[in-house]
Amino acid sequence: MRILIIGSGGREHAIAWSLKQSPQPTELFIAPGNGGTQALGRNVSFDVTRHEEVIGFVRRESIDFVIVGPEQPLVDGLSDALRKESIPVVGPSAAAAQLEGSKAFSKSFMSRHGIPTAAYRTFSSDQSDEALDFVREEGVPIVVKASGLAAGKGAMVCMTLAEAENAVRGLMKDDMLGDAGSTVVIESFMTGEEASLFVLTDGVDFSILAPAQDHKRIGEGDIGPNTGGMGAYAPAPVMTTDLMNAAIERVIRPTLEGMVNEGMPYQGILYVGLMITEEGPKVVEYNCRLGDPEAQVVLPLMKTDAVDVFAALAHGTLSGLEVESYEGAAACVVLASAGYPGSYAKGKAISGIGEMSDSNGSSSAGGEAAVIFHAGTRVSESGELQTNGGRVLAVAARGVTLQVALDEAYRTVSQIDFDGVQFRRDIGHKGLAHND
Ligand code: GLY
Repeated sequence: MRILIIGSGGREHAIAWSLKQSPQPTELFIAPGNGGTQALGRNVSFDVTRHEEVIGFVRRESIDFVIVGPEQPLVDGLSDALRKESIPVVGPSAAAAQLEGSKAFSKSFMSRHGIPTAAYRTFSSDQSDEALDFVREEGVPIVVKASGLAAGKGAMVCMTLAEAENAVRGLMKDDMLGDAGSTVVIESFMTGEEASLFVLTDGVDFSILAPAQDHKRIGEGDIGPNTGGMGAYAPAPVMTTDLMNAAIERVIRPTLEGMVNEGMPYQGILYVGLMITEEGPKVVEYNCRLGDPEAQVVLPLMKTDAVDVFAALAHGTLSGLEVESYEGAAACVVLASAGYPGSYAKGKAISGIGEMSDSNGSSSAGGEAAVIFHAGTRVSESGELQTNGGRVLAVAARGVTLQVALDEAYRTVSQIDFDGVQFRRDIGHKGLAHND
């Protein structure tokens, strides 16, 4: 099986790794990939924004199916372009990817279909004064969101009126996020614990991977600025069986049925970010892809052959497949560059990995070995592994319990170093508290 994966992050490394766990022979191509994916397949470089280049590569290399990792190519219609050429692809159409690409769309979709979410109002680019009046009337805490894609920087939880006004002005008057912030959604602040569900669906049938929780803030104790995610674990014990059933009946079924009824069936992986409130699960956001770093825990926990799962998603044949998880838990710890999520330097030598990695990137040091997923890495011309991004590595491990998985992940983290490395030492703290 010849598979093309689009993307360059830890999520795409985890997808490649999961495919390589299958006994089925695969040849992987990752565009553009990173310093870790090149051990699992061939990193290839072409411009994914030019759909004809992707199609040309697929034809030349006799690719069986394509997996699109990140949101931007999906919102830009890469899946539509591939499907038009009868190339099987894992990833929703541009119309369906609006669930992530436009918060204004997703909120009005939820409202049309009675899907529980925070109360909200949408303001278009010429309504900045109305938006400012609205936050003054509503008071704080309040959440101000750019409607468009903003690489994780678009949602601002405002605890003071000054923060809320600055957020509205920054997005609507100062073009802080360009077009992404010209339309703004302002919504009520929800309290509770968050959980992420990853729904594998061909539009009608679906399976859900182990519920996960990520750690968005840079600082221990969940303080400081938001990041892409500093770690994750699964299953998240906050998602009890009752809550999972409630999420399926109140959120997942109405979402998938609503998309079918509106003429844009959702095919691919739907990421549902939930807040577990006193009134039950409510949607914080939808994303049209696997989470990063959540993929680095939910894929190692997926027991069913990943080649079968991704092939079924690409071909729309999920109904015959039962997707099972391993017992136990998985955790991952992200190692980031100094300064992240602000500005950071690149090109720092990474030590401690080469000595313990086999060709699958797995730590070989005893127990259930940790896996080192690369995100912002590159291999220099002299062959040195170097940092090449804000989030550099995600060290993931599986264990019979969350504590065992965390211990193994942190043991491996302690062997890795680069100048200025930062990571959180409290990954999984909410899950451990539930388990006490
Ligand atoms: N970890 C959050 C995200 O992937 O959007």
